[in-house]
Amino acid sequence: MAATDQYEKKQQSSAELDSYVEAQENKSLLRFITCGSVDDGKSTLIGRLLYDSKLLYEDQVESLKAESKRIGTQGDEIDFALLVDGLAAEREQGITIDVAYRFFSTEHRKYIVADTPGHVQYTRNMATGASTADAAVILVDARHGLQTQTYRHSFIVSLLGIKHVIIAINKMDLVNYDESVFNEIRADYETFSDKLAFKEITYLPISALKGDNITESSTNMAWHKGAALLPLLDKIDCAEEDLSLGFRMPVQLVNRPNLDFRGFCGTISSGEVSVGDEVVVLPNISASKISNIICGRNNVSTACAGEAITLELEDEVDCSRGNMITAKNARCEISDQFQVNVIWMSESPLLPGRSYFIKTGTQTLAGVFTALKHKVNVNTLENEPASSLELNEVGIVNLGLDKPIAYEVYDKSRDLGSFVIIDRITNETIGAGMINFSLRRAGNIHWHTPDIDAAARALIKQQRPAALWFTGLSGSGKSTVANLLEKKLHARGKHTYTLDGDNVRHGLTKDLGFTDADRVENIRRVGEVSKLMIDAGLLVLSAFISPFRSERQLARELLNADQFIEIYVKASVETCEKRDPKGLYAKARRGEIKHFTGIDSGYEEPANAELILDTDKYSAEQCAEQIIVYLEQQGFLNADD
Ligand code: ADX
Repeated sequence: MAATDQYEKKQQSSAELDSYVEAQENKSLLRFITCGSVDDGKSTLIGRLLYDSKLLYEDQVESLKAESKRIGTQGDEIDFALLVDGLAAEREQGITIDVAYRFFSTEHRKYIVADTPGHVQYTRNMATGASTADAAVILVDARHGLQTQTYRHSFIVSLLGIKHVIIAINKMDLVNYDESVFNEIRADYETFSDKLAFKEITYLPISALKGDNITESSTNMAWHKGAALLPLLDKIDCAEEDLSLGFRMPVQLVNRPNLDFRGFCGTISSGEVSVGDEVVVLPNISASKISNIICGRNNVSTACAGEAITLELEDEVDCSRGNMITAKNARCEISDQFQVNVIWMSESPLLPGRSYFIKTGTQTLAGVFTALKHKVNVNTLENEPASSLELNEVGIVNLGLDKPIAYEVYDKSRDLGSFVIIDRITNETIGAGMINFSLRRAGNIHWHTPDIDAAARALIKQQRPAALWFTGLSGSGKSTVANLLEKKLHARGKHTYTLDGDNVRHGLTKDLGFTDADRVENIRRVGEVSKLMIDAGLLVLSAFISPFRSERQLARELLNADQFIEIYVKASVETCEKRDPKGLYAKARRGEIKHFTGIDSGYEEPANAELILDTDKYSAEQCAEQIIVYLEQQGFLNADD
């Protein structure tokens, strides 16, 4: 009898556990972000939410109480911030540095909250936290009202497409729970947020520390009629993601274990797909039908957004990583030119004309910001002219990619309309972007292939075209060596042309000066012209300081691997300054020329130049001869020698 009892009890508790687990699984998930200025009380709020939702173990609560007493910022009361300000350094300085994700749940919902740092230099962390959030709680200290950070964070929250915002006016206990303080801040925010794209803004007076309006409505602020924070969060409806988008799946991997199987793996980003559906692979537009869907280990007949699947297609279509499989009758647009918003996250500025890696979904491409339209003043939300974007600045920029992609605008899909920007040399993530719209359809501008091609033009000239790219400081001898070399080549009957920094700046690039941004654009243009001249069959001698590795690399990548010869004309600043052929160093020293290379503007030495000419050791004549030897060895001059 006792044994049966025990058995029944066990059965009962296991059934309870099952139903508990099931209830948890069925609860909807809300991701939200907390942000605001440094001392607005984010960590305290999150600590309070964890504490009030009873997700702390007894020992955690005990140690929290003890720690609170020891550190003593809140007298005898619990300092909830200690719960989340996990890092020792943060505790000592009282600030949050990284993005900390916390999990908690209420009876109705599960939550993931991103606690992001308030300091201006951590705007990038804040953007990271916001990129996956459905809602934002923006904290404002009732004593201080709206701060620069409130504006900045609100703007980024809106830029990243978060539609639901709660403006939590915190520390109401420190202003005697005064309704007029709340109303004033509310009115200020209403004026500011007019220009932002929030769907819903709720204003809430709270005290995270004292627990007012957190789990239930506060009796200290009976004048406020709305619900408390948790009930508000419980009710946010974020299931209104655009359902009108058809089926879209960026291909992450082509799985081909043997000749009989070819599966396209990825996570469905919108819509649903069934066996038999007609699809197209973009951007190459090859059509087929779904022959099988594999989810986990099973074949299934249908799959929907959020599921990671493998698709088999009926036909042998051309499809690789980075392509997008979409519904045939609701496909997405294709383009390679966009207007985008960019949040810049690097110490070195965004420079229009420089080539960056652009990672969108499952593919990484090369891209150039072709024009910086303007940057946004986050305090006034006004547009301001700019020639570069600095750390933490936000701008509207035109972006050109080296290949067309299938995309959605960010407004319709945060997944398919966003990208990160990666430095080509350091591989660091240096920015985030969102597609506003396409500037043109990639299909409308075609490459015209003439019957007489580069090879035919080169053949008639009896030479192998190439770019001889001279880089080095002003006064290092680039133009002198290039001039001697051209004479030697000319004497051998070679067809050449010299593009020289000083000369080109009288025409093609006369609108450019010597800021970093202008130098980038200068070299980009010269790279493109060199490419055309090589296409014409010439040996092109390009003599430019070209101080940045990135742009020399860009010029290199415009050409075939064996067409770019980087020649580092090496001379120290001291030597060049002694030579000072045009008297420019002297002027720069007197402050009459700004941004002078080697004085107040940088030069990045080549890391993999084909030739290094040491002009301290060798004469210009000897340097030119070294290049001739190199060209002979590499077979550039052999056609008629
Ligand atoms: S680059 O940096 O954009 O590659 P470029 O080679 O075209 O420079 O032009 C360099 C020439 O412009 C120099 O040889 C010098 O005669 C002249 N010059 C005038 N102002 C500057 C400056 N601030 N820095 C460097 N060169 C300058």
